[in-house]
Amino acid sequence: MKPVRRASVLISGTGSNLQALIDAIFEGRLELEILHVISNVADAPGLQRAEQAGIRTSILEHGRFAKRDDFDAALALLMSVGKPDLVILAGFMRIIGEAVLIPFEGRMINLHPALLPKFRGVDTYQRALDAGENIHGASIHFVTAELDGGPVISQVEIPVEQGDDAERLAARLGPREHELVVATVEFLTRHAVECDDGTLIVDGKSLDTPYLLQADGALHAR
Ligand code: GRF
Repeated sequence: MKPVRRASVLISGTGSNLQALIDAIFEGRLELEILHVISNVADAPGLQRAEQAGIRTSILEHGRFAKRDDFDAALALLMSVGKPDLVILAGFMRIIGEAVLIPFEGRMINLHPALLPKFRGVDTYQRALDAGENIHGASIHFVTAELDGGPVISQVEIPVEQGDDAERLAARLGPREHELVVATVEFLTRHAVECDDGTLIVDGKSLDTPYLLQADGALHAR
């Protein structure tokens, strides 16, 4: 994937990560055009955020499709609008199938609230607490057929504090996730990042360990 100029964003809910991207663009911290925001939930608050920023929106409710494949085919068609360099899944709570994966392979990233490969799937905060983790965090990875299993580009870590419950941990991770999504997309506007058979290639060199978001708000090699 060449350095990214234009992206579309898939959401299902609040859209606070979408808002972080919009804010970074408006404040001149991120050189990116958001072409399209697509939601599979008709009343997702994130749609209003997009409209307020003058971004085209579409709703594609999965419940209206009898077959999963039909939803995926319609989604792939909507995702192609404007030919984005990158599609960002920011709180998109739907597993996507081949009709999307094949045309968008290597051009789709997902934000996941856990330090992958730990805690794929849902309820990550509670599962991290139950496992007695001292550190929790979020990851951004390329989307592949394996749920939350594609190569990880970047991560942010936060300490688990005494007395944390899932809600408190999620509330503390939220703002760091926003920083991570902005820093990672910004990185992708400046670097050529490829996903080659499970390996990440950044500017021609393979990346063995994901970048870590540091206190300066930028991604650094570990
Ligand atoms: C984030 O916590 C993200 O990690 C998860 O869903 C949440 C999305 O939040 N995949 P928002 O819709 O961006 O506010």
